Amino acid sequence: MEYKIAVIKGDGIGPEIVREAIRVLNAIGKKFGHKFVYKEVLAGGAAIDAVEECLPQETIQTCLECDSVLLGAVGGPKWDNLPVSKRPEKALLGLRKALGLFANIRPAKIYAPLAKASPIKPEVIGNEFDLVVVRELTGDVYFGKKYRDALGIAHDDMNYSDEEVERIAKKAYEIARLRNGHVTSVDKANVLETSRLWRETVQKVSTEYADVMTDHMYVDNAAMQLIRNPGQFDVILTGNLFGDILSDEASMITGSIGMLPSASLGESERGMYEPIHGSAPDIAGQGIANPIATILSCAMMLRYSFGLEQEADEIETAVNRALEKGYRTKDLVSEREMFISTTEMADKIIEEMLE
Ligand code: IPM
Ligand code: MG
Repeated sequence: MEYKIAVIKGDGIGPEIVREAIRVLNAIGKKFGHKFVYKEVLAGGAAIDAVEECLPQETIQTCLECDSVLLGAVGGPKWDNLPVSKRPEKALLGLRKALGLFANIRPAKIYAPLAKASPIKPEVIGNEFDLVVVRELTGDVYFGKKYRDALGIAHDDMNYSDEEVERIAKKAYEIARLRNGHVTSVDKANVLETSRLWRETVQKVSTEYADVMTDHMYVDNAAMQLIRNPGQFDVILTGNLFGDILSDEASMITGSIGMLPSASLGESERGMYEPIHGSAPDIAGQGIANPIATILSCAMMLRYSFGLEQEADEIETAVNRALEKGYRTKDLVSEREMFISTTEMADKIIEEMLE
């Protein structure tokens, strides 16, 4: 089979990690007889520099014509002084909206060989830390009206409709059914009206999934519980803003934000796949970035957009084996410990895959 993938390398470490992820995709394609065709397009800072807009129409068009989208990371200090509406990050939000990607799936689990890299004590993590954050991605305060009024007061409108909550809740329950059957819906229903609607709607949806256990947690408590007892979570269902924050927190429990992949999905098979970390401009171009989050994002692409379950498994297993053999990028070691480069890490993963 041939699969068309739109590729947005982005800024900072984006190009380095995407390059390595594509090598891994090509290796798995060769092994299983699939052809991946890449269409490179611009978004973010790179697009601002080239054509003076962060999300050219052509990029959206190409993404819509492809079977899925692979994205590195966008943004950097070079574009920090632009108004919010023109910043590279706007491209990411624009793409999510234009492609209808309302569900952001961010799995976080501890890799046994990395247990030492976690800032949380092993006895607190236990061996049960394996959760997925299901974050709503095209609503909330991210997409509400933003403005300064005549008095100079800043406004960001936070809003959710019950349809928006319902469709993301259903996604979370479907995912929970394939996992440990437990959804924790996170909101701030003691303060926010949007959260009250969120909770009511999730309660309604939960009755259709009687086989799945549901609980509701306030976001401040959830932030605390993630550190106190991370093993209690299976699926965390939450809105755009809370999901942004909690997924960064969850990632760190695994030892490095450089490990976490993500899939952004809509109603169709097409998805956008990207690491959850940013463009890390401070380490760009040094060959020390961890490509694993992007490589694991490709595994998610194979699984969710192309239905290539075995191929996805093989990539994930290869990552695990490379870690078991002790290979580490710089973010995964402490001072004075040995580490390998971005490219070498991809080499090791490919080697394990071809074993
Ligand atoms: C993420 C990022 C983005 C977000 C930024 C870059 C706009 O933090 O994907 O988590 O807030 O969604
Ligand atoms: Mg974020």
